[in-house]
Amino acid sequence: MKATALLRYTDIDHPDAVFDTTLPNPPAPTGHDLLVRVHAVSVNQLDNRVRRPKDKVEPAPRVIGYDAAGIVQAVGPDVTLFQPGDAVYYSGDPSRPGSHAELQLVDERIVGRAPATLSMAEAAALPLASLTAWELLFDRLRVQPGRSILIVGAAGGVGSMAVQFAARVAQLEVIATASRPESAAWVRSMGAHHIVDHTGDIAAQLAAAGHPQVDYVVLLADTDRYFETAAAAVAPQGAIGLAVEATQPANIGLLWDKSVTLVWEMVYTRIDYRTSDLDRQHAILNQIAALFDHGVLASPVTSYLAPINATNLRAAHKHMASGRAIGKLVLEGFPA
Ligand SMILES: NC(=O)c1ccc[n+]([C@@H]2O[C@H](COP(=O)([O-])OP(=O)(O)OC[C@H]3O[C@@H](n4cnc5c(N)ncnc54)[C@H](OP(=O)(O)O)[C@@H]3O)[C@@H](O)[C@H]2O)c1
Repeated sequence: MKATALLRYTDIDHPDAVFDTTLPNPPAPTGHDLLVRVHAVSVNQLDNRVRRPKDKVEPAPRVIGYDAAGIVQAVGPDVTLFQPGDAVYYSGDPSRPGSHAELQLVDERIVGRAPATLSMAEAAALPLASLTAWELLFDRLRVQPGRSILIVGAAGGVGSMAVQFAARVAQLEVIATASRPESAAWVRSMGAHHIVDHTGDIAAQLAAAGHPQVDYVVLLADTDRYFETAAAAVAPQGAIGLAVEATQPANIGLLWDKSVTLVWEMVYTRIDYRTSDLDRQHAILNQIAALFDHGVLASPVTSYLAPINATNLRAAHKHMASGRAIGKLVLEGFPA
């Protein structure tokens, strides 16, 4: 099968960082595995995080990639949720070979039925960002309709879905941050009711928007930088949700007198720890597919590259590394 892989963890322009290759096909699926023919993929901050320079050399080409849409080719003996021919989408399991290959094995319990109304490329844009945003809002924060939410870092992949879920599914009043005219326009098109510039005085802008305090704060960027802002902005008995690892100790004492709840979201927790509710991601992806098919949600795709090869993946990694991506970038098809 054709694939794009890495051997060394190095600067993206190094020839071993990402290269085109041909690899043996995966073995026949066992257990709950599906064998999927990958049609489209998207790129996330995780790709750059996994690939970033370190002193390690793989003994054989390693395929990375954490989002895919494709068609089920074969199923393992324990599979009950899918059959060959089904169109599916999934984020996958970082401990296994990734999606930048024509064929991929993936556990059915973390796979959803692809939205019927979206193209393969549009479906591939969704899984990782959508699962992160959905789990954060509904599994961790357990948001209640009619409340208010501040979403910091709203214009990227996760933010685009978080804003839509908050505004169009949870019926929250959404204040979203964006620092440029184009990212502000994008966030508004995703359903945000108010825009705040995170490079300015967030507290003053919240007050000007009529929401000096909000019921929920979600940080999708730089937890170290925004934690105190979040602690000040959250209402008594409100909640803060974090999706970005902290590198400094945070002063949780700031949350004490307001009895604020603090939650974390890490989209691979269920997969990494094989939690008993692993199939929750199957259910979430199916629910999101239904929301697309009912016209509730809009595709976050803003950039499209074809085919899936080293040249385009280099460009995609650089695009994500800029920190200025708006919506989602997708890649479709393998070279002929
Ligand atoms: N915990 C998890 O499971 C999980 C899962 C997925 C992603 N993540 C993390 O979530 C974060 C967002 O991911 P993503 O894929 O949405 O990223 P992304 O697509 O690269 O987000 C880019 C957007 O973020 C905004 N931004 C950049 N720096 C910012 C800052 N300092 N403050 C506020 N906004 C900023 C920019 O908006 P403006 O141009 O308007 O400034 C830009 O448009 C990343 O740190 C990623 O590693 C965590």
